Amino acid sequence: MVELFLSASLKCASTGMKEKMFEALERINKRPEPFEFYTANDLWTDEHTSAQMLSFHLNEAIDVSSRNAKFINQSVEWIVSEFNIGKDTKIADFGCGPGLYATRLAKHRANVTGIDFSTRSIAYARAVAAREQLNISYVEQNYLDFETQDRFDLVLMIMCDFCALSPTQRKKMLSNFHRVLKPGGSVLLDVYSLVAFDQREEVATYAVNLLHGFWSPNKYHGFLNTFKYEKEKVVLDKYTIIESERTRTVYNWLQYFASEDLEKAFQDAGFSVQGLYSDVRGIPYDRNSGEFAMIATRA
Ligand SMILES: C[S@@+](CC[C@H](N)C(=O)[O-])C[C@H]1O[C@@H](n2cnc3c(N)ncnc32)[C@H](O)[C@@H]1O
Repeated sequence: MVELFLSASLKCASTGMKEKMFEALERINKRPEPFEFYTANDLWTDEHTSAQMLSFHLNEAIDVSSRNAKFINQSVEWIVSEFNIGKDTKIADFGCGPGLYATRLAKHRANVTGIDFSTRSIAYARAVAAREQLNISYVEQNYLDFETQDRFDLVLMIMCDFCALSPTQRKKMLSNFHRVLKPGGSVLLDVYSLVAFDQREEVATYAVNLLHGFWSPNKYHGFLNTFKYEKEKVVLDKYTIIESERTRTVYNWLQYFASEDLEKAFQDAGFSVQGLYSDVRGIPYDRNSGEFAMIATRA
């Protein structure tokens, strides 16, 4: 009798577990609507992942989180000459990270404001500015909510951060840019192109400690589901991170752009487009490039 009961309960437990496992896998593999969830915070400001991000930013040889040091030096040189950066040129750097651009531009005597919601990156950037006595003000804040009485000659958003925003957030950003720029002031930003979109593929992968422990110092099971949205030209890298005590889903969205669509978005927001480039070093525009940069001026 006891045996019968035990065997029945075991069967129930294993059926229940199977259902739970099935439901969990369904959730993990579910394709959300484009930009349905915004979790940029989890990627950039979490205690553990922000430390990984900062070490990538500061690794001068790689193009992760920030581009490599040679690229950034060339980019700053071009920005300085293109925008005639000099004493008291006012620059706002949205998503400034640890201040790799802000620091260099301040050394060219610009007055820089850097906005970023990563406590760790802002603390690093502030320490550099204090040590080197640079004219930089760092604001630790979500840049979507940034408001100021200051007016700038130049707004930067570098390393394709604009692509991580939903259409509504992009509209809001463009209106923020417009508001904080002086008349005749410019925006310089870069985005991924449709060439890069065509190179992306849908995948579903699983690994213990996916990305070599990037997501947690503890053991975890990591799933990466990449979804492509053909009509919208959007790609989602959806990470599901399962630790013994918590489960997180982080949505890493990327919008890929046709140059005409980006131009139109800026024009609709009251800008006139001054130029297209292959990247923020001012390399001439090439339609085969995986990314491109744009300068737009507040009309
Ligand atoms: C790809 S990194 C680029 C950093 C820097 N522009 C560079 O090229 O070195 C993006 C930066 O934007 C910040 N960021 C992302 N979303 C943000 C948001 N909503 N508000 C403020 N900062 C944000 C991240 O913390 C990160 O430092």
